[in-house]
Amino acid sequence: MSGNSVQFDYRPNSTPVPVAEREALLASPGFGRVFTDHMAVINYTEGQGWHDARIEARAPIQVDPASAVLHYAQEVFEGMKAYQSGNGAVLFRPDANARRFNGSASRLSMPDLPEALFLESVRRLVDVDRAWVPSQPGGSLYLRPFMFANEVFLGVKPSAEYLYMVIASPVGSYFKGAGGPVSVWISQNDTRAAMGGTGAAKCGGNYAASLRAQAEAIRNGCDQTLFLDATERRWVEELGGMNIFFVFEDGSLSTPPLDGTILPGITRDSLITIARAQGMTVREEAYSIDQWKSDAASGRLRETFACGTAAVVAPIGRVASPEGSFTIGNPEVGGEVTMRLRAALVDIQLGNAPDPYGWVQRV
Ligand code: PLP
Ligand code: COI
Repeated sequence: MSGNSVQFDYRPNSTPVPVAEREALLASPGFGRVFTDHMAVINYTEGQGWHDARIEARAPIQVDPASAVLHYAQEVFEGMKAYQSGNGAVLFRPDANARRFNGSASRLSMPDLPEALFLESVRRLVDVDRAWVPSQPGGSLYLRPFMFANEVFLGVKPSAEYLYMVIASPVGSYFKGAGGPVSVWISQNDTRAAMGGTGAAKCGGNYAASLRAQAEAIRNGCDQTLFLDATERRWVEELGGMNIFFVFEDGSLSTPPLDGTILPGITRDSLITIARAQGMTVREEAYSIDQWKSDAASGRLRETFACGTAAVVAPIGRVASPEGSFTIGNPEVGGEVTMRLRAALVDIQLGNAPDPYGWVQRV
């Protein structure tokens, strides 16, 4: 069944959150704990394809205890945002999320969701819940499309049934604090992804495997875990939920290459494009923890930052591991290039700067 032949049913929430309560929630939403009135849902059944597309009241769902996802983690998801721009609610590069969603689904032996259907589900949800898109600076509506195996069967095989859903959560900044540099922790034991594994897919299992290192990071006073490659334990790959960039004294940038073990971030791709358009040299090349440490000490490395949909662009000021720690530039203040690139990206997202790449789409 093609995406365009699926009709969305609209079943409005008859008891939406009262306006005054919604406004209070929107004033200080935090990250990921407040949800809107609706969700998008589409069922998939082998032989029948995608069916029963609908927008309905957000509510708990029933899942059978033998549902495949609960046992074998056949699940993929996306993270994207709707922004309140001068032109109303807008989405940023939703087509890139639709493509990556199918890339992840393919790695997990899940069915392809036609891009048109992915985009329609997201647009319809933002449309019906547009009053939930925060308008204060730094606020946005975080959208979480996801799909999971829903066949009631304990044999290990790709499921014959799936549920695709989109939920929405008004959010402020991902990191607590005033937006100053964050610190990262390198675990001695845990890695995130090996060659041939699922590192380039956005699947729940990758995050489950990262939680122990993330808990270790918090215990050691750091904000995020940072992973080195699984083979040599030497090359910087990415953070638990963000990609990473390095800024050098000659004004050039580097970021780890997309070699199959890291997530191909849409923020990463956007920043490479913006930086190159500003005349900067950007290399996609391997960079080791030893290079990072010695370049930070010599001053050859000026700045480091993390980037992703949830975190936007966050300066990294300190790197710690069981072997010790080092700082980058002024660990109290975000670097100049980092903050300039962040502003350039956010200005495009909010419609405060021209959008030469056609990244921003009105809902
Ligand atoms: N890497 C990981 C592991 C992530 O979870 C994310 C966030 O989605 C990213 C990188 C950044 O990707 P994007 O910029 O598309 O949000
Ligand atoms: C995102 O940025 O969308 C993510 O999925 C990462 C997670 C840390 C929330």
